[in-house]
Amino acid sequence: MFHKKTIRDINIKDQTILVRTDYNVPVVDGEITDTNRITESFPTLKYLLDQGAKKIIIISHMGRPKGQKVPELSLKPVANVLAEGLGIKVDFVDDVSGPEVKMAVEDLKKGEILLLENLRFWSGEEANSEDFAHEIVDSTHADLIVEDGFAVVHRAHASTDAIAHLIPAVAGLLVEKEATALSKVMTNSEHPMLVIIGGAKVEDKQPLIEAFLPLADKIAVGGKISADGYTASDAKIYVAEDFDTDGAGAKLDIGPVATAEIAKLISEAQTVIWNGVLGKVEDPAFDTSSTIVAKLLGENSKIFSVILGGDTTSFVRHLQKESPDLKYSLVSTGGGAALEFLLGQQLPGIENLEDK
Ligand code: 3PG
Repeated sequence: MFHKKTIRDINIKDQTILVRTDYNVPVVDGEITDTNRITESFPTLKYLLDQGAKKIIIISHMGRPKGQKVPELSLKPVANVLAEGLGIKVDFVDDVSGPEVKMAVEDLKKGEILLLENLRFWSGEEANSEDFAHEIVDSTHADLIVEDGFAVVHRAHASTDAIAHLIPAVAGLLVEKEATALSKVMTNSEHPMLVIIGGAKVEDKQPLIEAFLPLADKIAVGGKISADGYTASDAKIYVAEDFDTDGAGAKLDIGPVATAEIAKLISEAQTVIWNGVLGKVEDPAFDTSSTIVAKLLGENSKIFSVILGGDTTSFVRHLQKESPDLKYSLVSTGGGAALEFLLGQQLPGIENLEDK
């Protein structure tokens, strides 16, 4: 259950609405190479457009420019993706407050969207500056803020924290979807629950393993951490012991015995959380176990499946492009945010939202 107000709980018609999204997407030579975080904001934007919002202004970030204007991290290319995907006019201003923004907001018509520049070009964003948040609100005349950048809700920044103390803040549909699915995993999941952990760094994965130990029926550990000799501290934890290797003997994927064991655990599970690929998936010779796991989960509609973490979600989304029939309960857009949510940490971008 999600206890915060969402855009469905409030009057949208004739309101001027700021939407905080997470458009921290990869850009190579000016081209956005993965638009997922942008398209994941469409349901919220479409809802606001359909409900007759007076003006919709998007604020977001890309990369870590640390208060500097870094041209490669401009949000300008995002405007085209929005315009094409939504089929509407999307204006862009290379500022977040001031006269140009004021003018663009004035000119903005119902049914159009205005995208502002990368918030992190100004140090006030990461410093959680109330003045910076004030300037944005004053320049846009926003009546409320919709927090829909799930991947950034763990940051106490001006757009996720300070601003929510100036104008009413509610959740967008992406934040609602992700928070609802992750809460269900933690509080109300169907058992048996299997947690599959892969990836490279033990220090990143250990807190997650510990958080799930009391909840999960089984935790399966693969990936580089198993190849590096992770040792189980509990009978619930299964660690892969056989590996596929390259010519030099490097263990680059879990082997057939471990893959079969994880497949068996999946066949018995009702809930599966998967964080961390099980092999070196960028090399097709070593993506076998991860592909098998992704297919078993995506083909089984009876399993509540949650896919977490940048490497795992992009692997799964890549497979979905080839096999669109693969379906998951949640492919999270939030790397750090999703993990902090599961570890029960404070998430300002959600805490600050109005209660239902
Ligand atoms: C992410 O990519 O995880 C979010 O956009 C947050 O970015 P950050 O770690 O730079 O705050």
